[in-house]
Amino acid sequence: MDPLNTMDHGLIEQLAGRYGLPLHVIFTDRIARNAGSFREVIGRIYENTLVCFAVKANPCRGAVRFASSLDIGLDAVSEFELQAGLEEGIDPDGIVCNGNAKSDRYIETAVGAGALIAADSDWELKLVSEASGRLKRRAPVLLRFAGMALEGLTASDQSTAVAWTKFGFPVDRAEEVIKQALAAADIDPVGISAHIGTQICDERGYDRLMEYLLDLGEHSLNLGMNLKYIDIGGGFPVSYLEHDEWLAFQARLLEQLDGRLPPERWVTWDNIPMGFREYAESNRAGGVTPQWKGKAYWSGYPGARMLEHLLERQTSTGRSVRDRLHELGSPTLIIEPGRALIGTAGVTAAKVSGVKEVSGNHVVVLELGIVNHGVMLVTADIFPVEVYPRLTSDRPVDAFLAGRLCFTGDMISKVKVRLNRLPRRGDLLIIHHTGAYAADHFASNSCGFPLPAKVAVHKDGAVEVWRRAERFEDVFGGTICS
Ligand SMILES: Cc1ncc(COP(=O)(O)O)c(C=O)c1O
Repeated sequence: MDPLNTMDHGLIEQLAGRYGLPLHVIFTDRIARNAGSFREVIGRIYENTLVCFAVKANPCRGAVRFASSLDIGLDAVSEFELQAGLEEGIDPDGIVCNGNAKSDRYIETAVGAGALIAADSDWELKLVSEASGRLKRRAPVLLRFAGMALEGLTASDQSTAVAWTKFGFPVDRAEEVIKQALAAADIDPVGISAHIGTQICDERGYDRLMEYLLDLGEHSLNLGMNLKYIDIGGGFPVSYLEHDEWLAFQARLLEQLDGRLPPERWVTWDNIPMGFREYAESNRAGGVTPQWKGKAYWSGYPGARMLEHLLERQTSTGRSVRDRLHELGSPTLIIEPGRALIGTAGVTAAKVSGVKEVSGNHVVVLELGIVNHGVMLVTADIFPVEVYPRLTSDRPVDAFLAGRLCFTGDMISKVKVRLNRLPRRGDLLIIHHTGAYAADHFASNSCGFPLPAKVAVHKDGAVEVWRRAERFEDVFGGTICS
């Protein structure tokens, strides 16, 4: 965890007084620092790289404005994200429009602005071509591919480029799709793209993706495409835990799944096996070596380190990725990090409602809620957590975290987290690394709770409200008859 200093802590208390709890706080200098790490790698290894901030990681105008101030591009997935990018002055050349179900308005706006459109399906190629004809503007198009042999290398609930995915064109149709795009009227196929999922901790996933994309790039050139871009998507990981914590967690979970721990020493709620599901299911049959599969919480290549690894590694041809890119005419490499730019920049502060004992375990109940549906979309992360203020009498203790929604699945953490002490009602709990997805995926008016405020703290100490806290009128403001 990147610890908050005492000044930040005091500031969070102050902000909580002003904007209420729960509260999401983003420290923008941390975003700038993360972007700076990508820049450093790019400058050193392959300058022709464009960083596009994945707005979905924190979709609000403030985040888009800050991305614009850093002079980086944008990965949009909706007409509103695109509009925000354009309004905040991001160069359309630096905006990639993703999404597997683009609306007519989204396509029209993208074509009109001259943004890059990652075409996801046959019908989309046709719609983009029609819009280009109508607007008399040749749309620059990337062809998004999926269906690669990446099983086991990306988390199954977050894999977006394997055979079973709703995204992109199957890679085994590549030749036909490229020819179709080259023959389509009014569009300009300028590149290929893919996105393999989020929190890709295992570098082998990216290694394999890159082999596919370099081969596809070569194929596209041979078929006559003017290959200006290769877009490898987002997914650059964040280490939520230290390496030894991650190993210790896995070891303890295995002990638990093997039935060697009493429930009060379990590390996951209700004995959920997480990445050891396969092992747990086959355990009865015996003989299976435990292997963690799916989303991990530590990576040897966090953020920009993954890009560095990827560009420098040797491909199957014996040449490095960087050299192969140059052999393809040095196309612009697009990366679309969301989590790696903003995840570690945000914290969530919530008030402790009380502590319960469940099956011999501490459960800290927070005035904070997540939504079942959100949990089904993306496996929650293992967040570093602390009770504030820290006291000299603090003694570390492990606990699960529960929310306040009236649904049993509303657990903020189904993995036991280490707290500096057991909190009391009214204490402030600070959850780290929640700048990406957490503040929005899990936000809804479920059970009539209002969406919390989201504020940014800039380097000079200025505070900017990125989303104001909802009030009663926003949630129960009445009905509209039309
Ligand atoms: C197309 C695309 N690009 C980029 C991202 C950002 O991913 P991450 O936040 O893991 O970098 C996503 C998120 O899933 C995505 O769907």
